[in-house]
Amino acid sequence: MSLVLTGSQVMQVLNMDLALAAAQEAFQAYGEGRVNMPPKSYLQLAQGDFRAMYGEIFLTQAHICGLKWVNVHPGNPAKGLLTVMAKIIINDPETGLEFADLDGTHVTDFRTGAAGGLAAKYLARPDASRLGLIGLGAQARTQLAAVLKVRPIQEVVVFDRHLAHAQGFADYVTATYGVAARAAADARDAVRDLDIVTTTTPSGRPIVMADWVSPGTHINAIGADAAGKQELDPAILQAAKIVVDDWAQASHSGEINVPLAQGKIKPEQIYGSLGEIAAGKKPGRTDAAEITVFDSTGLIIQDLALAYAVCQKARASGLGEEKDFLK
Ligand SMILES: NC(=O)c1ccc[n+]([C@@H]2O[C@H](COP(=O)([O-])OP(=O)(O)OC[C@H]3O[C@@H](n4cnc5c(N)ncnc54)[C@H](O)[C@@H]3O)[C@@H](O)[C@H]2O)c1
Repeated sequence: MSLVLTGSQVMQVLNMDLALAAAQEAFQAYGEGRVNMPPKSYLQLAQGDFRAMYGEIFLTQAHICGLKWVNVHPGNPAKGLLTVMAKIIINDPETGLEFADLDGTHVTDFRTGAAGGLAAKYLARPDASRLGLIGLGAQARTQLAAVLKVRPIQEVVVFDRHLAHAQGFADYVTATYGVAARAAADARDAVRDLDIVTTTTPSGRPIVMADWVSPGTHINAIGADAAGKQELDPAILQAAKIVVDDWAQASHSGEINVPLAQGKIKPEQIYGSLGEIAAGKKPGRTDAAEITVFDSTGLIIQDLALAYAVCQKARASGLGEEKDFLK
């Protein structure tokens, strides 16, 4: 039997605490070699792309494998549609039987935010209190929610290419979390003198410049997740401790893909993976003045760990519909 969950049913049990716990478990499993995860493959379309992501993970409570089918259409918000939408299927690796079939849109947003939160937990200064957000769409909301859980943030500065949108987002931050927030007039204002900077735009050229970044800053580079995308001045990467989620994906489609292809950074400059840090194999931040960058491309094991946790909670609450698709 397969548990079928719609997006609104997923949202009845999904929250950032669940997402952070699932991210911890997924990255630790990665660091301990308990995953089997080929790089995602892309279907390029005129207006965006689709990705097929599949893998296997040995969780503490279960052994699962599965598939996510997810799009990125940056022009969708102008049509009143989401940029990123997804479907997740979970199977039993022993028999191949499917046991869950759920909307993966919210799981994607929350697992992406949670990866940023986990990276901030290991890489941002413990006293980091000022957060900058660049690009204020769906991912920015979960990035914000996750960082607020792991660091004592007291001030948020937000920038988007649409100023009115940034003003609305600043209001949302204060109304939702009671944290002081303001809209920046330019990207520099959302980087300079801040402790953590998170970028979530679909940009194909650098939008954060090296001379804006203060010593001790941690950057979560989330937006670049396809070949040719980049948000950071390569000079930032040249000076930073760079942590990737997965070398194969990051070198192909993450923040490092363009500077690597241009020879501006070298593979040996990559410090390691977030999984190695979560598994205790490498330390995270070791110096208050170092600049750290987390290059996130998004891993199927994050989706599977969180989707599994969502399904467990949903089943316990009697949510969703049990279906036998083979009948
Ligand atoms: N790393 C991951 O795991 C992961 C997961 C999901 C999405 N993403 C990527 O994150 C990016 C954002 O996704 P989303 O769902 O938030 O999209 P979205 O369309 O909801 O939001 C993007 C926001 O960025 C703003 N923006 C675009 N270009 C900008 C620029 N040059 N400067 C400032 N603001 C700009 C837009 O106005 C919009 O508000 C996409 O590139 C997507 O592919 C990455």
